[in-house]
Amino acid sequence: MQEAIDRLRAEGLSRIAQADSPDALESVRVGLLGRKGELTGLLRGLKDVSDDQRPAAGAALNQLKLELTAALENRTGDLAGAGAGSMDLDLTLPGRAPVQLGTAHPLLSVLEEICDIFYGMGYDRGDGPEVELDYYNFTALNFPDDHPARDIQDTFFLNEDMLLRTQTSPVQVRTMERVQPPLAYVFPGRVYRNENADASHSSEFYQIEGLRVDRNISLVDLRETVNAFIASFFGGERQTRFRPHFFPFTEPSVEVDMECVKCSGKGCGVCGQTGWLEIMGAGMVHPNVFKAAGYPDDAYTGFAFGMGIDRIAMLKYGIDDIRLLYENDLRFLNQFRGVL
Ligand code: DAH
Repeated sequence: MQEAIDRLRAEGLSRIAQADSPDALESVRVGLLGRKGELTGLLRGLKDVSDDQRPAAGAALNQLKLELTAALENRTGDLAGAGAGSMDLDLTLPGRAPVQLGTAHPLLSVLEEICDIFYGMGYDRGDGPEVELDYYNFTALNFPDDHPARDIQDTFFLNEDMLLRTQTSPVQVRTMERVQPPLAYVFPGRVYRNENADASHSSEFYQIEGLRVDRNISLVDLRETVNAFIASFFGGERQTRFRPHFFPFTEPSVEVDMECVKCSGKGCGVCGQTGWLEIMGAGMVHPNVFKAAGYPDDAYTGFAFGMGIDRIAMLKYGIDDIRLLYENDLRFLNQFRGVL
């Protein structure tokens, strides 16, 4: 039996190697492995082998079958490759599968849309680092040393002096250090907070900061700017209201509410039945922030505001869970194709 196996291995491999077309190879295959093929014949003969030799003979035949099958496959590949080379293939033809073009992420589209509105009002755009110094994120913004926002719960500290910025406000100071008034800027970017994720919280999100400094800028300028932005972004005039609030870096500080986008002030689930949606924090730049920037005392006034881009995008497009913006599920993202 072993001799027959060795012979068939040598002959089989040589026949496979000599087959020079797919058809010739197919008949070699049938001759070896087909129903009446030689290897099949040997397998059938196993029953006549003595009991003590049958297991070894069976194993050897299986091994041979694997070898011949692999050799056939290789040769099939060789012949196909050679055939392709000799055919006139146009490798520049486009593929058959339809090509799906990517689109901008909805957050990025909203970010750009907001910036465009401010460019229209004469604003520049600036940027600052996401890995920020404690100094710019807090101290220069007039946060007292023991302010609770510095608490390790809210801030991702990297070491004593460095952290992931919790707000885009530090870019105000970085910019004023370089640029003298009059100035008007928006600073969009990613910010980080040590928070558990839920439908309205994420440990990373986007804000856009606005800053305008000149002589004699007043709260009225802030109000007109905010109203113009809202009318342009959400479409149509909408009521806004300024509620007194506290931020260390502005005085006075306000929170700005606008008439609910869904119910136009009547009260609904989106606005918690109040008719109002809070959309940004704002105020008049605190003198200590001007001081940190190196501006002379009492020379300038200015307003600043900051809003969450995620929240604005969610309000505009009726998205009810912030996590959808970060999961990049194509079933979600594809809904914004052509919309933004
Ligand atoms: N930085 C504030 C925050 O993250 C938002 C903010 C409020 C920015 C008032 C401002 C401002 O520029 O004037 O909650």
